[in-house]
Amino acid sequence: LELTVDPSAPLPLHRQVYAGIRRAILSGEVRPGERLPATRALAEQLSLARATVAEAYDQLRAEGYISGRRGSGTFVAVDLPEDAIAQPAPWVVARESRVRLSRWGTRIAADLADLPPVGNASYEFDFRPHRVAEDLFPWEEWRTAVDRAVSGERARLLLYPPASGHRELREEITRHVAVHRGVHCRPEQIVMVNGTQEGLNLLAHMLFEGGDRVAVEDPGYPAARVALLAQGLDVVRVPVDGDGMMIGALTRRGPFRFIHVTPSHQEPTGATLSLSRRLALLEYAERNGSIVLEDDYDSEFRYEGRPIESLQGLDRSGLVVYAGTFSKSVLPGLRLGFLVLPDTLAGPFAAAKRMWDSGAPMLEQAALAEFMRSGAFERHIRRARREYRARRDALQSALIGCFGSRVWIGERHGGLNLLVRFHGHLREDEIVQRAGQAGVGVRAASIYFAEPPVEPTFLLGFAALPETSITRGIRVLAEALENG
Ligand SMILES: Cc1ncc(COP(=O)(O)O)c(C=O)c1O
Repeated sequence: LELTVDPSAPLPLHRQVYAGIRRAILSGEVRPGERLPATRALAEQLSLARATVAEAYDQLRAEGYISGRRGSGTFVAVDLPEDAIAQPAPWVVARESRVRLSRWGTRIAADLADLPPVGNASYEFDFRPHRVAEDLFPWEEWRTAVDRAVSGERARLLLYPPASGHRELREEITRHVAVHRGVHCRPEQIVMVNGTQEGLNLLAHMLFEGGDRVAVEDPGYPAARVALLAQGLDVVRVPVDGDGMMIGALTRRGPFRFIHVTPSHQEPTGATLSLSRRLALLEYAERNGSIVLEDDYDSEFRYEGRPIESLQGLDRSGLVVYAGTFSKSVLPGLRLGFLVLPDTLAGPFAAAKRMWDSGAPMLEQAALAEFMRSGAFERHIRRARREYRARRDALQSALIGCFGSRVWIGERHGGLNLLVRFHGHLREDEIVQRAGQAGVGVRAASIYFAEPPVEPTFLLGFAALPETSITRGIRVLAEALENG
C-alpha cells in the first residue's frame, strides 16, 4: 500500500490516511478481500500514532470500504461493486469526456478562449487595462461603511435579499444617475446585478432566442460578444469610427433584435457616440423594435468637457436598458452593477435575478448604500478623477518622450486606459513578451478587433500606477523594446 502523509498539510493526519486508503481501494490498487496492514504496522510505516491510523480505519469501516474487527485483521470489503472499483476515482472522471456540456457550456468553453485571462500575474509596472488605484481608494471610509452595514442591517442580513436589490441603494443610484448621467428612472426600474457581465447574461437569456441577430461594436468589448455568442445568437460586428458605432452600417446590415453599445466612452477606442448618431440609433431601435444596451461602464471618469447625456435619457420608446457598474468607480472585486430597465421589464428581470442566484449579496449592497449616502463615493470619484487625469497625462508624456513619432495615441478624454499603437518591426506578441520579462504588464488590443490591426496595438491602463511609476515603467518598456 503506497501511502504518504504530510504533517504540514492542513488536512488532519487521520483524514489523510483515510483518503489515501479510500483512493487505493477505488482505483483498484488494493482489491476486494485483500488484507490491509495492521494499524500498528501502518502507524510505524508512516511514523504516526496508532490511534490516528485506527481512527482512519474506523471511518473506512463505517462507510463500508473495509471489514473486520480491530485485532482480527482488516480487509477491503468484498461486497464493493466491481465496476465501482474498476472506475477511476471521481476526480479523474470529471476531466474526461463522460461529462457532456450543454450547447451553452460548450460555446462558453470554446469562446472563453478568446478572452484575456483574468491575470493574476504581478508586474512591477502594470499597464494592463481597467485596473483601479489601490493608493487612491478610501479604504478607511469603506471599512466604516462595511461596519455600519454589519451593525445597522443585521435584521436584513438574516434574510434573503430582495431580488431587485437593496432598496436604499437603488434610491442612491437613482439620484446619482439622474444628476450625473441624465438617466431618468425610479428605483423600481433598477435591478442590482453582479456586475455588467451578469446583466448581459440575464438580458441574453431573458430577451432572445438562439439565432436572433444582434449587433456589437467593432472593435468592441470581447466579454459582451462572448456572452451573446454563448447564447447561440447571430452576433454581427458593426464598425466604429471617431464618432462611435456607425449607425449607417448598422442600418445597412438589416434589422437587429439587440445592439450593445458603449456610447460615452467606446471600448476600446474611447470615442464618444455623437448626438446625431445617438438620435439615429434611437430612431433605428424604434423602427425595428430593437433593445439597446447602453453599457456605461466608466463614464464617471471623463477629463475634458461634459459627458453627453445618456442614451437612456433621450429614449422615448422604452427600448434602452442602461447598465452601470461599480467596477471602476469603487472596486471590480465588489461585483456590483445595476440595470435600469424599461418599466415592463423590471418585474421579469427581478424574477430572473431571483431564479439565477437569489439576489446580489446583501452585505456588499448595504455597505455600498452607506458609502454613497455618507458622501464618500462622491468624494472618491472627484479625487480619483483628478488623479487619474494627471496619470493619463503622465502616460501620454512618457510615451511621447520615449517613443516620439514611433507611437500613436488614441482618444484621451476619459476612462482608465489609452489605446496605443507602436510603429516598428516588433510583433504584438513579441512586445508583450519582452515587456513582461522586463516587469511591465501590457495587454494586446487585437482581441477587441474583428480584423487584428496591422500594427501592434495595446490598451494601456494608467489608473493603477502613480505618476512616477508610469514614467519609469514606460522608460523600462522602451528599453526592453529597443534592446535585443
Ligand atoms: C465595456 C465594458 N463594460 C463593462 C465592464 C465592467 O464589467 P463588470 O461590471 O462586469 O465588471 C467593462 C470593464 O472592463 C467594460 O470594459
